[in-house]
Amino acid sequence: MTNEPYEHPAMPARPELLGTQLFDLTGRVALITGGGRGLGQTFAVALAAAGADVVVSSRTSAEIDAVAAEVRAMGRRAEAITCDVTDEASVEALVTETVARMGHLDILVNNAGMNIRKPILEISLEEWTRVLDTNLKGYFLAGRAAGRVFVGQGHGKVINIGSIFSHTALPSQGPYASSKGAILQLTKVMALEWVKNGVQVNLLSPGYFETEMTSPVYNDPVRKAFIEDRTPYGRWGQPHELAGSLLFLASHASDYVTGQSLLVDGGYNAW
Ligand SMILES: NC(=O)c1ccc[n+]([C@@H]2O[C@H](COP(=O)([O-])OP(=O)(O)OC[C@H]3O[C@@H](n4cnc5c(N)ncnc54)[C@H](OP(=O)(O)O)[C@@H]3O)[C@@H](O)[C@H]2O)c1
Repeated sequence: MTNEPYEHPAMPARPELLGTQLFDLTGRVALITGGGRGLGQTFAVALAAAGADVVVSSRTSAEIDAVAAEVRAMGRRAEAITCDVTDEASVEALVTETVARMGHLDILVNNAGMNIRKPILEISLEEWTRVLDTNLKGYFLAGRAAGRVFVGQGHGKVINIGSIFSHTALPSQGPYASSKGAILQLTKVMALEWVKNGVQVNLLSPGYFETEMTSPVYNDPVRKAFIEDRTPYGRWGQPHELAGSLLFLASHASDYVTGQSLLVDGGYNAW
């Protein structure tokens, strides 16, 4: 199974937790990269609604300040901390500052991402590198920094935001699909390395949801209809339709789940 000596975990099952208690995040601290808009904003609100305190991060202060204010208005603690996930020092400082301000860290949502849609023959090395640096190196850096905290304290949840392109492909998705496929493997390796420390690492893999990232597709009637036709539900997802799966992966409800990809895609990958 492994080329390293393997130690099985001594992780307790929690039969005393029943019903909605399984999803209760009261007292937990969640850090969300790319939390200033789009899916990350939805994730911040969903985690806060389940009781978590939230640190929201991206490169744009105005956006993360607004989301942090939204979370505080729900009665939770919230902090906005700027960070560029492609920069190692910036990511290390983000996690250190999160623990300093909040006291601890329990959940990482690795969500900051980008896409450049071009055929392989047209994409420059600079464009390729920009996508891979954000979507793959950024997940490694934030996962490693939070992972140190989680392993040290003996619990933690990492939720890497994947994609249908972690599992499938379309033309013009070269760097994006490569990065999303790679984080499926990164998720499995993190899961295996940290399972003995009580840390679960999973991939949440959305189909098509309308955000700034997907606006070039959504605003093109032909491409929008292509996705609708290709999706068994016959429509795009709405961000709140990811909240239940996120809470599952962030909470005790998923304590015996690790190294998995949960596709929330209206059946896209079932064809
Ligand atoms: N929308 C979809 O249909 C869909 C489907 C599958 C997967 N996803 C994944 O979901 C995640 C969120 O996507 P979205 O659709 O919500 O996109 P979005 O609306 O464009 O938001 C992306 C977020 O990531 C942040 N970000 C980008 N580069 C960053 C960097 N270098 N450092 C720090 N933050 C950075 C952005 O903030 P700044 O630019 O201000 O830093 C923003 O907050 C991505 O990983 C994406 O691949 C989305």
